Amino acid sequence: MEIRRLGFIPGEHVRRETLFHVANGYLGMRGSFEEGTPPGVRSVRGTYINGFFDSSDIHYEEKLHGFASIQQSIVNVIDTQGISLDLDGEAFSLSAGKVRDFRQVLDIETGVYTRSLIWTSPRGKRTEIVFRRLASFILPSLALIHAELKPLDWSGAVRLTSSQRGDVLQDSDPNDPRKASVGRKMLRVTSALEQDGAMLMTAETLHSRLTMASAVSHRWQGGFTIGHRVGEMISEAMLVGRVKAGEAVSLTKYCVYTDSRRFEDPAEQALELLGQALKLDFPGWAERQSEYLDRFWQRAGAQIKGNEPLDASLSWSMYTLLASAGKDGIGNIASKGLSGEGYEGHYFWDTEIYMFPFFLLTSPDIARDLLRSRAAMLPEAIRHAREMGHEVGALYAWRTITGSECSAYFPSGSAQYHINGAVAHAFLTYWQVTGDLSFMAEEGAEVLIQTARLWLDAGHWQAGQFRIDSVTGPDEYSCIVNNNYYTNRSAQSHLRGTVKLCEALRNNGMLREAQERTSLAEAELDQFRHAAEAMYLPFDSDLGICAQDDAFLSKKRLDLSQIPKERFPLLMHYHPLFLYRHQVCKQADTVLAHFLYEEGEDEAAIRRGYEYYEEITTHDSSLSECIFSMMAARTGRPEKAYDYYRRTAALDLEDTHGNTADGIHAANMGGCWMGIVFGFAGLRLHWNGLAFRPCLPDKMEGYSFRLTWRGTGMQVLVQGGEALFMIQSGPGLELSVYDQEYRVEYELRVPIKANAGET
Ligand code: BGC
Repeated sequence: MEIRRLGFIPGEHVRRETLFHVANGYLGMRGSFEEGTPPGVRSVRGTYINGFFDSSDIHYEEKLHGFASIQQSIVNVIDTQGISLDLDGEAFSLSAGKVRDFRQVLDIETGVYTRSLIWTSPRGKRTEIVFRRLASFILPSLALIHAELKPLDWSGAVRLTSSQRGDVLQDSDPNDPRKASVGRKMLRVTSALEQDGAMLMTAETLHSRLTMASAVSHRWQGGFTIGHRVGEMISEAMLVGRVKAGEAVSLTKYCVYTDSRRFEDPAEQALELLGQALKLDFPGWAERQSEYLDRFWQRAGAQIKGNEPLDASLSWSMYTLLASAGKDGIGNIASKGLSGEGYEGHYFWDTEIYMFPFFLLTSPDIARDLLRSRAAMLPEAIRHAREMGHEVGALYAWRTITGSECSAYFPSGSAQYHINGAVAHAFLTYWQVTGDLSFMAEEGAEVLIQTARLWLDAGHWQAGQFRIDSVTGPDEYSCIVNNNYYTNRSAQSHLRGTVKLCEALRNNGMLREAQERTSLAEAELDQFRHAAEAMYLPFDSDLGICAQDDAFLSKKRLDLSQIPKERFPLLMHYHPLFLYRHQVCKQADTVLAHFLYEEGEDEAAIRRGYEYYEEITTHDSSLSECIFSMMAARTGRPEKAYDYYRRTAALDLEDTHGNTADGIHAANMGGCWMGIVFGFAGLRLHWNGLAFRPCLPDKMEGYSFRLTWRGTGMQVLVQGGEALFMIQSGPGLELSVYDQEYRVEYELRVPIKANAGET
């Protein structure tokens, strides 16, 4: 399975840099050209370390109490992508001579990105050039670049110059008003040296004072001699030799990165890791990479049958999620993964609601690492709650790298308290799916208790109901509202889940530690229980739907059919107040609540809600269409679900939002996987097992996926009028299909219902 682009198209270059980035959860390198970009072609040349950031003051003309004051931004680190080629006195560049057979291919089974072409120099000499890259999943500090060149009709001298550059700047675009016109500098080189063929460069961020190191070394095949030149900001290795027509020569560049958030002595350890890296050649590392990915596909493999583009997008999404996810308990998943600087490299609720389920059901170890990284942010969340005026509890930052709030516009930033519910949901479903009570005792309980507490402080009692005022739900076109249905629902589930967990821990003699750390009183659990039971959930009886919030349904409705296409996304063309005053949604909100928390909700209200909100939702956020796809399937509209799914799958591969250049839309990629598993197959997680409600749209021949539930691995195949559940490892499991209960130890076949959503 591969993602392929043929021919060099200058206007597509910057977005292809995103598509062809290589990453492993620690390190990400955009698919920029080794030799540099032809003049006039937009490029964002970038390399990123997950969670490695610089900080800056946030400036407000009017700064009120408690506003976020420090911005954190992912740093474009030392650039090791450069390899320029001098072929018999002519410099290789796509802007000179002629290019044939230009191909860019990301092989997602091996994790190797290849760019190949045949270059005819201005003087008419032809050379086959192939660059391969990978970011190692085995040694996350390592990125490898392999350059191979074969003169087709000439013999002569070649010179390869491989660089390590500290003169890096952040992304900028003089033609985009949303970006700086000149790239900001965030990194300062602190030392550069060469030692036994290794070029070591260290650098420090200007304000956050984090340090990093990059160590680069080379191995080659062919008769080259190597020399090094170390400058203050740029180090270079020059390989000089002769080549013969028809004979290939190659160079492998080992690029190792370390940083002070993970390594005590980044420089020393970069050299050590470089030593380890040099023990294998490129094919050796590529083989290790394949084995790692083999194991991943074994447990996670999913397919869409009879529809190549959708299938490719699904696999690419899964691969890219794996490549984006921090696996060290420090890095989380930035909303653009490690593919670009969009959204400053921040982590949002995108992780927990959109991406976490994929890891939870296919790679629970990675899911646990993601939770550990959230647990590590708890002290910051406690601080943030105080900043927001809460004397108790913890409030996770809406957008952040280390845990502190980085949102400069609080109405659609800090006001999104539902992030607490998202974090809690992830911890609770982790417990549900893995049964790992020890982890919940060690890390989960404290997070759940502190964040649950916040609801009691943020909400209040009125006429026997528990209400939550002045928050923003997922839909950012209605801000600071009272009783956002989604928020109240998620708080309710959070409070109930916390009580359930504390009871389970107590029954197993495991509550004491969390109780002591949080000074949890017995009465508090009663308060949680009580507030959950009395949670006010706005409902409009005339329309028969759950109301997005107290005021939403009484606002003026925006007729989306009257708005010209070029005025979308609306946030770029209308003042926020204009949007807040209307019934218009940027993204799924109540519909998302019905997806996540359907228990006890009236089926007809769910169906009517879907219809009502669909008409006023613009999907201006990339987090929306996948939810509508899943809920279309849930409400018995498989063809509609398919249409939404197709758009979900195309988002980055076809750049339908026009900003893939800034990085992938990682949440949408999670949505691409969820669309099959939770959408068409209708999976819902219950405490006693899995529940499915499979459907199959006419335009799909079938689909299959794998998941793991409490140590049992299962493959699900929906095709030819039936759903087949096959146990692949472990003791088997309980599941329900269309509300009928089964215990499956080998396999189960159930005919698909034409109208799966109807109950
Ligand atoms: C969406 C948020 C999302 C953020 C980062 C915004 O446009 O409205 O829900 O968390 O993007 O992806």
